[in-house]
Amino acid sequence: MAQFNLLINQKKHEVDVDPTTPLLWVIRDHIGLTGTKFGCGIAQCGACTIHLNGNAVRSCVLPVSAAQDKEITTIEGLSNNNDHPVQLAWVEAQVPQCGYCQSGQIMSAAALLNRNNTPSDLDIDRAMKGNICRCGTYPRIRKAIKSVTK
Ligand code: FES
Repeated sequence: MAQFNLLINQKKHEVDVDPTTPLLWVIRDHIGLTGTKFGCGIAQCGACTIHLNGNAVRSCVLPVSAAQDKEITTIEGLSNNNDHPVQLAWVEAQVPQCGYCQSGQIMSAAALLNRNNTPSDLDIDRAMKGNICRCGTYPRIRKAIKSVTK
């Protein structure tokens, strides 16, 4: 066990965990932020996507020790009132079906638009290809992302 200082959604947290604990478990079980989901646990589905210093990362394979002193943002911290442009676009396009993967989808889309506010179809495909949706909401995801860029 070791102590880690984490900055999650601009709030400081101190946790005492094994250094190899996946950040996803810390976020969900220790901090209680359950918007970030567990899907596969092996960086293959994207359900656990968060931002680390503004970049989309898979928190299921990121040891907590690698997140210390970095800025961690989860879906709960993306905006104050669920009014991030990507969240608004998601509502407008009625993207979710079952919804399970959607926080990861939104975090990947938001990271893409942070670094490129006019992404091409190829840019969107590349940025979103690691986020799997079993309901097949991909056309609405693309529509929502494109609506933010207009
Ligand atoms: Fe992390 Fe699937 S749970 S990528």
